[in-house]
Amino acid sequence: MTATIDGKSQAIRLGERLVDLINRSGIEIPQVCYHPQLGPIQTCDTCMVEVDGKLVRACGTMAADGMNVVTISVRADAARREAFDRILGNHLLYCTVCDNNNGNCTVHNTTRLLAVEHQQIPYKPKPYEVDMSNPFYRYDPDQCILCGRCVQACQTLQVNETLSINWEDPHPRVLWDGGAPIGESSCVSCGHCVTVCPCNALMEKHMLGEAGYFTSLSKPALSGMIDIVKGIEPEVGYGAILKLSEMESHMRESRIKQTKTVCTYCGVGCSFDVWTKDRQILKVEPAHGAANGVSTCIKGKFGWDYVNSPDRLTKPLIREGDTFREASWDEALALVGRRFTEIKAATGPDSLAFISSSKCTNEESYLMQKLARAVIGTNNMDNCSRYCQAPATMGLFRTVGYGGDAGSIHDIEKAGLVLIVGSNTAESHPVLATRVKRAHKMHGQKLIVADLREHEMAARADVFFRPRPGTDLIWISAVTKYILDNGLANQKFIDQWVNRAAEFKESLESFTLEMASDRCGLPVETLTKVAHMIAEADGVCVLWAMGVTQHTMGSDTSTAISNLLLATGNYMRPGAGAYPLRGHNNVQGASDHGAMPNYFPGYQKVDDPAIRAKFETAWKVSLPPKPGLDNHMMIDAIHEGKLKAMYLFGEEMSLVDSNANFVSDALSKLDFFVVQEIFFSETCRFADVILPASPSLEKEGTFTSTERRIQRLYQVLEPLEESRPDWQIIQDIANRLGAGWRYEHPSQIYEEIAPLTPLMAGVTYERLEGYKTLQWPVAEDGSDQPLLYTKEFNFPDGKATFFPVPWSEPTEQPNAEYDLHLNNGRLLEHFHEGNMTYRTEGIREKTPCTFIEVSPELAGERGIQTGSWLQLTSRYGKVRAQAVITTRVHGNELYMPMNSTDEAVNRLTSSHTDKATHTPAYKETSVQLRVLGEVGEDPLPRTNARHGHPTPQTGVEVERKWKRKDYRQPGDQLVQIQTR
Ligand code: SF4
Ligand code: SF4
Ligand code: SF4
Ligand code: FES
Repeated sequence: MTATIDGKSQAIRLGERLVDLINRSGIEIPQVCYHPQLGPIQTCDTCMVEVDGKLVRACGTMAADGMNVVTISVRADAARREAFDRILGNHLLYCTVCDNNNGNCTVHNTTRLLAVEHQQIPYKPKPYEVDMSNPFYRYDPDQCILCGRCVQACQTLQVNETLSINWEDPHPRVLWDGGAPIGESSCVSCGHCVTVCPCNALMEKHMLGEAGYFTSLSKPALSGMIDIVKGIEPEVGYGAILKLSEMESHMRESRIKQTKTVCTYCGVGCSFDVWTKDRQILKVEPAHGAANGVSTCIKGKFGWDYVNSPDRLTKPLIREGDTFREASWDEALALVGRRFTEIKAATGPDSLAFISSSKCTNEESYLMQKLARAVIGTNNMDNCSRYCQAPATMGLFRTVGYGGDAGSIHDIEKAGLVLIVGSNTAESHPVLATRVKRAHKMHGQKLIVADLREHEMAARADVFFRPRPGTDLIWISAVTKYILDNGLANQKFIDQWVNRAAEFKESLESFTLEMASDRCGLPVETLTKVAHMIAEADGVCVLWAMGVTQHTMGSDTSTAISNLLLATGNYMRPGAGAYPLRGHNNVQGASDHGAMPNYFPGYQKVDDPAIRAKFETAWKVSLPPKPGLDNHMMIDAIHEGKLKAMYLFGEEMSLVDSNANFVSDALSKLDFFVVQEIFFSETCRFADVILPASPSLEKEGTFTSTERRIQRLYQVLEPLEESRPDWQIIQDIANRLGAGWRYEHPSQIYEEIAPLTPLMAGVTYERLEGYKTLQWPVAEDGSDQPLLYTKEFNFPDGKATFFPVPWSEPTEQPNAEYDLHLNNGRLLEHFHEGNMTYRTEGIREKTPCTFIEVSPELAGERGIQTGSWLQLTSRYGKVRAQAVITTRVHGNELYMPMNSTDEAVNRLTSSHTDKATHTPAYKETSVQLRVLGEVGEDPLPRTNARHGHPTPQTGVEVERKWKRKDYRQPGDQLVQIQTR
């Protein structure tokens, strides 16, 4: 298909918008409201062109075969200029003293593109105050051009549905919750609106007064300068004024640095540029991230104050009695080297253990396991995927062969149906959740949610149900059986691709819908409906997380999910498959790179002699042949006196492991404990040596996100004072033990990993440059696999396999003494216990503490109000926190977010584990509740988004603007705008 643009023929891509076709053909036309990631908004009218003699908006028109497009016509040009003149009536051009004058301001650049000298419609301020009530960004109505990009982003991309424009008002403006102050609205501070705003109407507060050379002037001085500019404009025109501001903008380039990094918080893998001025973080600017585009959540956009926190550890510390003293690196490293050598000599290499960080880089995990295996000689090596993700990996290993997501986030967007089991996706994987919310709201995707809580995704679902705790395996197996028994399965797929079908069918015999209904507390009709929806959907993606994995049957339930997908043929095609949502930014990568007791990098078994021989040759050592202890076994081994020393980096083990009191007890028994951290964490309290590390912004390396996507992070800042990147510290320790490592940059570490690891054979830093990414497996020639299993499954015969799984009762069931079930999990604003996020003041202000969610029924029964102080006691410990009464929980279910170091929910959880992987059964906890009598304020302050009242609409609703009496489409009268 071709169209003619200004007389030249241009090939059209499938489904291409006219504006994109024009841009691709190199013709520059204004397009103020258009943003490719938001689609057409059609509010600004600046993209007018003639198509077959008619004036149309290029953004709102699809390119079509044979179209005759004229951009250079008097009529179209006049229309575009008139439209932009109207925009300038809403926006004061004071670029030289504007913090947004950074070369990327759409209003500034369009003024230059159109060579506007004077405006026809005079600028008129709006009768509203600037809104500063959000801690992270501000809205200035006087600069708002009413393009609606922010509204479109909030309504259709983030789908928080906070923003709208009151088009019918004499003075339209952007509204939060229909007119509330931003800080008291449902705004979750994701920053989408700020990122896409084409001018300075929405700005990050950290930018204000900081970005420009003149922008820090006092308000009266600034107003004076703006008045001078306004005064000279009629005489000199905008051309000269813009030249001056462009000089100032160029000057900024030498002091503002923009560096690409990857988010340090969750496993979605958002990437963005960080803007810095010396050590000051001015803003985070997402645009090109393969996983996120312009999207972020509150943590990735605004949660970076911890990096410059005065609490950072900046010098090594050595224990002296009950306190610590500062030490030099030399002294601390010498001590670590000496004690590791002594302990190894006295009680053997297996009396030492190593725990890698799923927040640190792939290269750092690789070095840590190499230190354990090649230098010390033990496989006692693990990472915190043991606490959450190992069961999901096991379920996939059993059935399809690779322990990773079956496709990409794009596949989740494309699916006809998304089934979410035990995942509070909107809070734990916020940007990934936006893609589901968008597909559901805008593109008719179906959504089924199974969860104990009615969280946001549940509230949005087409079908939401609450199975009894620990019974997911039953209803999933029953739905699979129903599908197989009623001819709804994809028999062709099963016949061609799946082994053990008959045996599997037999294993499901007892899983009738009636049995499931009885055990799970669900109506048969709901299960039948779910079965039909799954069987009939055009592609099913199942998303699951810790609500599934943190049970004694975590691996088996994950297996049952994969069995269901195999039965319905939901592998080997786009828009389908299994998606265990990885929690930490690099929990996938830590395991991929060998931080596990039984695997070398790339899941190569330590007890396979041929594999071991390969690593022995490469590392020039002999290696221990038997799998080591995982981190759950390590705690038991310390209590048993078998494990004497531990080296851990970047993990708050004493709080995030289950049965925290038992774990803390163990850590206090170690003969020698080295903790490498950025803050003095709770775990540091048990250390003998504390080594100050650098966070992600201060180092280079790679992370692997939930979709197996490997991405590079670049160094944004120098390490603070004496802190060092973890890979350097691990190398320093290895060398104190005689290793003789000489890595000067993480890229050299990857050069060693790739040839040893078939899964990553083609990974190089060059192939990951900038925003380029690779999704493993990566072949030697650099080709990767966004969709796994395109040709075969990862088993010797290329076929997947059904894996029968029985059900057993969960542990720790409520009884007369511990009568309530306690669920726990993440909160949007905080990451885990909050060691990093509490150090951002705005986050602390909005979400200052943990709390206990109580259902209205239970609250009524026990006389509890929001704010009541409660004590929860389990068989393992006690915590105190205030109540929040909410319908998110139901009946005798309690929920406690994990964002506390003082009242950590893991003081209540047990040491029971998943049978196959030793992942703690965090979600199998029963407690007794005592109302303490005092009632305080709501632990969620008024400024918390959960108190807001969203205003859902389909988008910016430009039709309402077009209906205004004072609106007419530009171009239907010729208006003369003066230009150069
Ligand atoms: S939720 Fe708040 S920060 Fe996010 S797009 Fe909506 S208004 Fe903006
Ligand atoms: S605040 Fe919203 S409507 Fe106003 S200019 Fe920015 S993106 Fe456009
Ligand atoms: S969704 Fe996850 S990766 Fe993305 S910005 Fe938020 S915390 Fe970071
Ligand atoms: S860019 Fe087309 S109407 Fe704004």
